[in-house]
Amino acid sequence: MDIKTFGYLYHKARGATRDEVIKEAEISHEEYMLYEQTLGSVLQDIMQDRSRASEIGADFVRLSRYVYGEASDQEKQITRPDAIKARSGELFSLPAIGTIAIPSISLHQAIADRRSLRKYTNKQISLDELSFLLWSCSWARDFRSNERMEITFRNVPSAGSRHPLETYLYIRRVEGLRPGLYYYHPIKHCLVLLDSSPEKEAELFEGCFRQEMAATSAVNIFWTAVPYRTAWRYGQRAYRYLYLDAGHAGQNLHLAAEAIGGGACMIGAYLDELMNSALGIDGKEEFVIYIATVGKKDFLSES
Ligand SMILES: Cc1cc2nc3c(=O)[nH]c(=O)nc-3n(C[C@H](O)[C@H](O)[C@H](O)COP(=O)(O)O)c2cc1C
Repeated sequence: MDIKTFGYLYHKARGATRDEVIKEAEISHEEYMLYEQTLGSVLQDIMQDRSRASEIGADFVRLSRYVYGEASDQEKQITRPDAIKARSGELFSLPAIGTIAIPSISLHQAIADRRSLRKYTNKQISLDELSFLLWSCSWARDFRSNERMEITFRNVPSAGSRHPLETYLYIRRVEGLRPGLYYYHPIKHCLVLLDSSPEKEAELFEGCFRQEMAATSAVNIFWTAVPYRTAWRYGQRAYRYLYLDAGHAGQNLHLAAEAIGGGACMIGAYLDELMNSALGIDGKEEFVIYIATVGKKDFLSES
C-alpha cells in the first residue's frame, strides 16, 4: 500500500466527502475515481472491522491476562523456533566489539542529556560508532542452540530471553558503507546488504509518513518482531512482551547515541503496510514494531 492509497482509505473510512479526500490525501480527481473503482472491497473490509478496532486495545489487555492462557507450544513440546532469521546477501563486517573505542561519558550524563533529536549535522557516523550503537541495542553476546531451545542473550532484556526482534538499517552516512538497506546479523555482528536502490530510500521515507528526520538522519533503524519466537513460549501474552522488548532496545540506542555525540528520535507513527513490504516481510510472522532515526548532534542548535 502506498501513501496515496492509504490516504484515500483512511479519509474515506472516516466518512470524508470526495472533495475532502482529494484534498487531504493529496490525490487527483482521476486517482480518486480509480480508487473508487478498485478499492471498494478493501474499504468494505476496513468498515467491517471498525467496531472491533475501536475496542481492540482494552480487549487485548483483558484477553491476554494469564487466566485465559492455554498450553503454549513449548509446553506441548512443539519444535522450537530459530533464534534469528538470517538473511543472505553481500556481507560487511563491523569492527569487533572488543576492539572499538567506546566513548566515555557517564551513564548519568547520557540519561540527563537524552532528548529526541530530530535535526542532524551532515557528519558521518564512523564504523566503530555504528558497531557501538548496534552493540548497545541488538548485538547477541551469547547464542545457545540445541534441539529443545535456541536462545540469544543481548545487552537489552527480553521476556524469557526469546529476543523476538530483528534489526534492519537504512544507512545514509556511515564511513565506508554505501547507502542502502541492510540487515544486521546479531551473532556474526555484520551487515548484509539487501537493497541499495534509491527507490528503497524513498519508499522507507514514505513509510515513515515523510517525517523529515527520517530523510536527514545518518542511519534509520527498523526493528521488526517475529512474534512466534516469544509466542512459542508464552502464547498470546507474548504480544505484550514484544512491545516491552522494543522499548528496551530503543532506550539503549537513545543512550548510546548520546555517547557518540549524536542523538536519536523514535518513530511509532509509520505506515505498517508500506514499511513491511519495503522490508520484504509479511506483516504477520514478522512485522515492523519500532523505528529510530540517528545522527550527529549540532551542538550549537539542538532540537
Ligand atoms: C513509542 C514512541 C513513539 C514515538 N513516535 C514518534 C514519531 O513518530 N515522531 C516523532 O517525531 N517523535 C516520536 N516519538 C518521540 C516523542 O515525541 C518524544 O519522546 C516525546 O515528545 C518526549 O520528548 P523527549 O524524548 O525529547 O524527552 C516517539 C516516542 C516514543 C517513545
